[in-house]
Order: sequence, then structure tokens, then C-alpha cells
Amino acid sequence: MIKREHWGSRLGFILAAAGSAVGLGNIWKFPYMAGENGGGAFLLIYLALVFTIGLSVMLAEMVIGRMTAKNAIGAFAKLKGGAWPLVGLCGVAAAFIILSFYSVVAGWTISYMVKSITGALAIEDPAALGSVFGGFISDPVSPLIYHAIFMALTVFVVLAGVGSGIERASKILMPALFALLLILIVRSVTLPGAGEGIAFLLSPDFSKVTWATVSEALSQAFFSLSLGMGAMITYGSYLSKKENIASSAGWVTLLDTSVAVMAGLLILPAVFAFGFDPSAGPGLTFITLPAVFAHMPMGSVFAFMFFLLLGIAALTSAVSILEVVVAYFVDDRGISRKWASIVVGVIIFLLGIPSSLSLGIMGEFTIFGLGFFDLMDYISSKLLLPIGGLFISLFVGWVVWDKAKEDIAAHNGVVPGWINAWGIIVKFIAPLAIAFILLKGLGVL
Ligand code: PHE
Ligand code: NA
Repeated sequence: MIKREHWGSRLGFILAAAGSAVGLGNIWKFPYMAGENGGGAFLLIYLALVFTIGLSVMLAEMVIGRMTAKNAIGAFAKLKGGAWPLVGLCGVAAAFIILSFYSVVAGWTISYMVKSITGALAIEDPAALGSVFGGFISDPVSPLIYHAIFMALTVFVVLAGVGSGIERASKILMPALFALLLILIVRSVTLPGAGEGIAFLLSPDFSKVTWATVSEALSQAFFSLSLGMGAMITYGSYLSKKENIASSAGWVTLLDTSVAVMAGLLILPAVFAFGFDPSAGPGLTFITLPAVFAHMPMGSVFAFMFFLLLGIAALTSAVSILEVVVAYFVDDRGISRKWASIVVGVIIFLLGIPSSLSLGIMGEFTIFGLGFFDLMDYISSKLLLPIGGLFISLFVGWVVWDKAKEDIAAHNGVVPGWINAWGIIVKFIAPLAIAFILLKGLGVL
């Protein structure tokens, strides 16, 4: 048997895992979700969920991966078998579904990079930018070309392997992402009138909070931290026993959450400074923000930097989603990394076509009242990821607890003092809270 590849360094692993976590979820989704759900109140609920359930499931996934050195399905099969590999199988299914629409949105960011260079976004009126956006995403051809370009980039990185593809790309792209983010935040918070946006994000209004808000925050936490699907199982499987896995899990959680808050601080102050509506929904990034840039000196430069930032964030996340599927085919089906990446990439591209068309010519076609794009998003983020997280917690808490404890202590032989707190969360709190919030959110309870 060939020895499994390992990350070249601890920093390499943290950057790759943070690259997975930091994505469209932070920069595109989080600010508009906060905008629609009461600003600071949403932020507080989100933070509470992230640092209890999120952090615990993050560690659980990384441990499952490292204990087995296997992909998401193979890891459950190796540790226990029975019906457990189904958890991994649902994860692989979620990977196909999520990447299919994720890549469509990521394609928009490439198109918007081009548009910011050609001056097509230099329009001050949000309504006119709304027509630009609406016209673009409902076009039957152009978004598909960008979707194809983005999938090709993703395949290209995964195909090159864990060390020379994923880790190398993360080491270049993640520092670039942080630099761009800092430049843009400084620009945004120094705009006159930005204070209102900061206040909106930081001062909670609990009158807007319902169980639907809490369930939005929970799905957002899973999506943003790349949990519930086996992405962190897969990345953890390339981790050596020498690394401090708990501190790595902590870093990744902290980085992802900081970037979400920073994206809020980048987008909301600018939106308030120009008197736009913070609850503009998914269009906040593609409509309101370009209007904000158009009002600023050198706006097209900032617009380009912003969509580049968004594209980089999306690429390192998409890579981790594709890797979940590719690792399975390479480990358990004996297919070469090259062919697995290309074939799976093409299938996911095809699966994304109806999502893209559902925003235009296929708009009339709905299932359960949802267009194809929204249906894919709903099935994956609202159902598959939280349910996956529920079973991952139960598995670590009840099925492999002793081995998991050993794995946590592998780097220095010391079982940390917080281990029992983690145990209580994965055994009881996380599964019960996820089930309760899901049922409340669905209106069943
Ligand atoms: N975490 C990524 C984001 O925030 C998306 C993602 C979800 C990646 C699930 C991997 C697994 O954009
Ligand atoms: Na994220």
C-alpha cells in the first residue's frame, strides 16, 4: 500500500482547513443573513452556536479523519461499519449538491471581476445595478461559461494533489485573501457615516429573533465552518499524529468566524454610509456593494479587489468540497486522483446547470415551491449538513469515545482538562440542540 500523503506543515494544514472554511459563506452569505435577521442579535446567536456546537463538531470531524487516515465514507467503515458509513455517504452526496450551486455563484464573482475592469459596474444607482445583476444571472449562457471556468480551476488544484495542489494553493491564496480583506475593511470603516453600520452589526435587536432565525444561524454555522459533510474528516485524514489537533480545530474555527465578522464590518458600514438597505438579501454583495464602490474614488479598483477576494475564498472552499468526493474514489474505488477529479468535476458542472438556469429561463419550474437553486441550497445547508453534524457528534461521543480521547492526546500524551466538557457536548448537547433547532425551524415542534 502507498503511504498516505501528509500535510507538509501544521501551518499548511491550518491554512488549507481555513481555506475550506472561509468562503462565500462568510463574505456573501453572512453579511446579508445578519442584515435580514436583526444584525447584532443574529451575530450573538451565531457566535454562541459556533463556539459550542461548531467547535466541537470541527474537532470531532478532524479526529475521525486522523484516527483512520481515510475519506469520509471509509473512515466510518474502518471504525465501526454497520449503517455508519451512510453518514459519510450523505456527506459525499452533499458535496455534489453544494459544489454544483456554489460553483455557479463563484462563477458570478469571476464575471464581476471582469465587469469591474470593463467599467460595467461603474453605475451609482442600485436599481440599475440590480438590472445588471438580474440580466446577468438570468442569461442562459454566460453564467454557465464562468461556472465552467471556476470548476476547471477547482479540478486543476485538486488534481495536483494534497501537498502540491491544495496545500500550495492555500499557502499563496490565504495570505492574499487576508491582505485584500484588511485593505477593504480600512476603506470601508473610514467612510463618513460608517459608524451606523458598525452599530447595526454590534448592537443586538432581539425583537427580530424567532426560531427561524436560530435555525438560520445553525445552518449558517455548519455551512460556514465546512461541517457535517466530511470535509474536515477528509482534511484531518492527511494530518500526522505529531500535530496538536485541538488547537488546530480552534484556530480554524476562530479564523472562519473572524472573517465572517470582518466581512460584516466591510460590507455593512459601506452600505449604511451610502444609505442603502442592509436587508437587500443575496443581492447585497452583487448589487448594493458595486453601487457603494461606484460612489467612491478609485471605486473600480476596490470593486476588482473585492470580487477577487470573493473568488479566492470560493476557490479554496470548492477545492475542499471536491476533495471529499475525490478522496473517496481514490481510497476506496482505486481510481486515480487525476481521473476522479476530472470526471467528478464534469458531473458537478452538469449538476450546476439547472441551478443556474433556475434563475432565468427555468424560473417557472419549482419543486416544493422552490426553484432548483434554492432547493439544492435548502437540502444541503438546512438538512444534510446539520443532520450530518448530529450523527458525527453521536459517533464520536458514543461509539469511538475512548479512541478519540487517545487521538486528541497523541501529540504529547496528555489528555487535556477540557476533554469531559467536549464529551458532554458531543454526547448530549450538540445532538439534542441540533435536533431541537431543526424541528423548531421546520415548524414540527
Ligand atoms: N465553508 C464554506 C464557506 O463558508 C463552504 C463549504 C461548505 C465548504 C461545506 C466545505 C463544506 O463558503
Ligand atoms: Na465559512
